[in-house]
Amino acid sequence: MSTARKHLFLNYKGGTGKTSISAAYGYCLAMAGKKVLMVDLDAQAHLTACLSGESAGRDKSLYSVIAGGARLSDIIVPTSLSNLKLVSSSTSLSALEMPLFRMSLREFRLRKALKAVEREYDYIVIDSAPSIGLLSLNAILASDEILIPMLADFLSFNGLKVLMETLASIERDFSFYLGKIHIFLNRYNHAYSICKECLEATRKFYPQYTLKTVISESQEVMDASSLGKSVFELYPDSGIAEDIKSLVREVNPAPSVTQKFSVAEKVRLAFLNKIEGVKK
Ligand SMILES: Nc1ncnc2c1ncn2[C@@H]1O[C@H](COP(=O)(O)OP(=O)(O)O)[C@@H](O)[C@H]1O
Ligand SMILES: [Mg+2]
Repeated sequence: MSTARKHLFLNYKGGTGKTSISAAYGYCLAMAGKKVLMVDLDAQAHLTACLSGESAGRDKSLYSVIAGGARLSDIIVPTSLSNLKLVSSSTSLSALEMPLFRMSLREFRLRKALKAVEREYDYIVIDSAPSIGLLSLNAILASDEILIPMLADFLSFNGLKVLMETLASIERDFSFYLGKIHIFLNRYNHAYSICKECLEATRKFYPQYTLKTVISESQEVMDASSLGKSVFELYPDSGIAEDIKSLVREVNPAPSVTQKFSVAEKVRLAFLNKIEGVKK
């Protein structure tokens, strides 16, 4: 039986579209018939609001799974699509960093928690908080692929440089290959020359990572976020819905969906399995 591909939306900068685009990305995969579990790792619980309409998540969150030994399956909640489920967040998650610090194999707690359910899904899509910390590191080490939404401006480009250096140092410190990295521009406006310049710079400096897909600036995304609905529910024929479909297609070309692993991927998985072996 296959296990879920784990896709993490990551950027230490806030407001780049991690939550809005990951919600639409997961919804799009679910519309294509995939079984998808979304994981809200931000204590602000915006993904939870986007997908379940709940404003602050439930009492039980990943905190109780990672720190208290609760079962992940007990905190999964439904969404408007039957094959799209959600691990909701709550403010309690903000208190997790300190207890995590004292735990054994503290960087791999999320990976271990997800293992319990990963065979039930085709994809696990994680929305990270805009912060550098142990929980983000847990998310990075739990993921197969990392999607980095960025805005087209100088500060975001600078932030991307820092993020890529951090990912490279995580590869060195943990001696294993992080999965594929995909950078894409969000809130792209064709009328602004800064957007074009930023896209060109990103393609020049990170040619192997930058996606062809760009996500346009769109009023529909803001409407969907405020109404707690998906852009696919509200505006299925919009340009933004097409952009998200293009993102899903580009990140998931047919071979990766059929679970073929490269040699580097096999080395990475073997390393992680060894780590889990040490724990048992
Ligand atoms: N493509 C887009 N067009 C217009 N607004 C967007 C777009 N992507 C995100 N936004 C808006 O930008 C704000 C920040 O997005 P969000 O997804 O919360 O970012 P993050 O999770 O990275 O902090 C939200 O108000 C959201 O509606
Ligand atoms: Mg967010």
